[in-house]
Amino acid sequence: MKPVIIIGAGGHAAVVADALQAAGVSVLGFTDADSTKHQSRQCGLPILGGDAIVLAGYDRNEVLLANGVGGVRGTDARRALQLRLQEAGWRFTTVIHPTAIVSPHARVGHGVQLLAGSIVQVSAVIGEGTIVNTAAIVEHDVEVGDYVHVAPRALLCGAVTVGNLSHIGAGAVVRQGIQLGQHTLVGAGAVVVKDFDGGGELVGMPARPAGGIA
Ligand SMILES: CC(C)(COP(=O)(O)OP(=O)(O)OC[C@H]1O[C@@H](n2cnc3c(N)ncnc32)[C@H](O)[C@@H]1OP(=O)(O)O)[C@@H](O)C(=O)NCCC(=O)NCCS
Repeated sequence: MKPVIIIGAGGHAAVVADALQAAGVSVLGFTDADSTKHQSRQCGLPILGGDAIVLAGYDRNEVLLANGVGGVRGTDARRALQLRLQEAGWRFTTVIHPTAIVSPHARVGHGVQLLAGSIVQVSAVIGEGTIVNTAAIVEHDVEVGDYVHVAPRALLCGAVTVGNLSHIGAGAVVRQGIQLGQHTLVGAGAVVVKDFDGGGELVGMPARPAGGIA
């Protein structure tokens, strides 16, 4: 496999670097807009510089990119970055940690990241650019849209659907068959038992729209 440059150098980028290296992929380093970080190292890898300058030194056909931008409320920034660079001809690699369990009958989109200990069950569909984070579980027949973040230890039970650009918070549980629209933010630890149109936040057990939370 071609070597990879990770775009971003924050916490999620470090997790992505770890997953790629565990899978035996060569990682050249990170990019970051913050010039105070340039030439320093993270996880033993260099922070090479800003992405425009760094990528100007590489051939699009010889190097792949990985999206190092995570998100604790939403993934719009992650999507914008990836689309900008894809439009410029760069390709984003799919990241699968060797401890992730992925059914051969699941469908995984372009640039998806399946991190340590995650499980993607039979007939699940994971959209482009989505993160299934540490120890998260995506059960059978679940459909997750594009640029969703399924945060650590979240559980999507069978046949749930999750709209694009949603965030399923750490440790949240979404009951089987539930449908969540685009831009749904499920708070950490929530238990979702009703469908939701999207465009807002759900918190608590059972989860309800988050009055007062911006
Ligand atoms: C729901 C969430 C987005 C709210 O964040 P916020 O807008 O910064 O909210 P605040 O922390 O200011 O809390 C506002 C109120 O909501 C409550 N609240 C916050 N998060 C909550 C949650 N997950 N469940 C229940 N109540 C929550 C707070 O107790 C507070 O209540 P109060 O006004 O009565 O004191 C956030 O807490 C959350 O759960 N994010 C997901 C985190 C995650 O998945 N991280 C993984 C990263 S890898």
